[in-house]
Amino acid sequence: MAIGDRQLGMSKGLNRFAILVACATFFLIIAGALVTSNDAGLATPDWPLSNGQFFPKMVGNLFWEHGHRMVATTVGMLTIVLTIYVLAKEKRQWVRRLGIFALVAVVAQGLLGGLTVKLMLPLAVSTAHATLAQLFFCTTVSLAVFTSRSWIEARPLHEEKESLPLRYLCSAALVTIFLQLIIGATLRHSAPWDKHLPTELILAHIGGALAVTLMLGSAGVAVLRRHKGESFLTGPAALALVLLVVQLFLGLAAYLTRLASPKDPQPLNPMISITVAHVACGALVFATSIVLTLRTFRVLPAHEKTVLQDLHDYSGLTR
Ligand code: HEM
Ligand code: HEM
Repeated sequence: MAIGDRQLGMSKGLNRFAILVACATFFLIIAGALVTSNDAGLATPDWPLSNGQFFPKMVGNLFWEHGHRMVATTVGMLTIVLTIYVLAKEKRQWVRRLGIFALVAVVAQGLLGGLTVKLMLPLAVSTAHATLAQLFFCTTVSLAVFTSRSWIEARPLHEEKESLPLRYLCSAALVTIFLQLIIGATLRHSAPWDKHLPTELILAHIGGALAVTLMLGSAGVAVLRRHKGESFLTGPAALALVLLVVQLFLGLAAYLTRLASPKDPQPLNPMISITVAHVACGALVFATSIVLTLRTFRVLPAHEKTVLQDLHDYSGLTR
């Protein structure tokens, strides 16, 4: 018989609300990327008001810029409610702390957004704003993971025979993806649509793409091979691999359309939609890899066989 939510110490309502905030944040990332791709960052040079008004007419690029602020305000308010909800329902101290961190992160992100407008979009601030957006998204996704039934009910899996522990393989892939997101953000904000992207940053980003493909590819394939039938792990692993392939194609398409965009009279499609899709899919690759990594930590043992132990076994010393 299935164990009740209360016996498990979980709140279905809290879990659903965390999923809602994560989805709203993903939508906000798309709204933000539309500001950048439409070159609408300075549609209004003031903040917190827009052109001196609380709600300006949403015309021209103000639609993207002010629209992004409205979506951000909604997500900010949802995050306040989420933090209160977490503090009210959660007993696990570390989950409560993560709830408070989400609130701090969203406030910092809002301030960075305002700052980038006030300072007229300096590379460092715009890049920090793009990067913190991804980190905040992953915080909301993690809260959704930690409050889920599948997380709370998960049971340890058998220790693997292979030598390289999956939790470290997945963590390494995650760090590589995060570095790639930072390079991507630096690349994206280093030249507007009417200028060519700097070659050294493109090369660094292509190098990063190779590293991500290698790390996430081997982590994903290892999970699929070692834990066949364990959908708790194979689900996010398969999804991460599919998203990685999509992201590589979108990256190539973003590069080609950005190569042509300086000849256009203004930012146009397909450049806008492809670059926005590349940012959004980057967030999904990162989020799925976070889910996978957290789950490996949840169900796989900390100490698996090391390479040395394997050599020891093979040489017959322990038989
Ligand atoms: C929860 C809060 C927020 C989140 C998660 C968020 C997220 C984002 C994202 C993902 C981008 C796209 C970055 C890229 O395409 O590389 C962006 C761009 C931008 N955001 Fe936000 N944002 C938030 C709040 C704000 C606020 C309050 C402002 C206030 C003005 C703001 C102003 C901007 C501007 C001006 C850009 C374009 C930057 C550029 O083109 O260089 N954001 N935001
Ligand atoms: C694992 C693979 C990849 C990931 C995770 C990734 C991620 C990203 C992200 C997140 C951004 C924007 C960052 C931001 O502003 O927030 C970006 C920008 C960009 N990426 Fe990638 N990328 C990958 C592969 C590629 C590949 C293979 C190319 C092909 C050359 C590429 C070309 C670009 C270009 C041209 C931009 C700037 C777009 C613009 O100017 O608007 N990416 N990447």
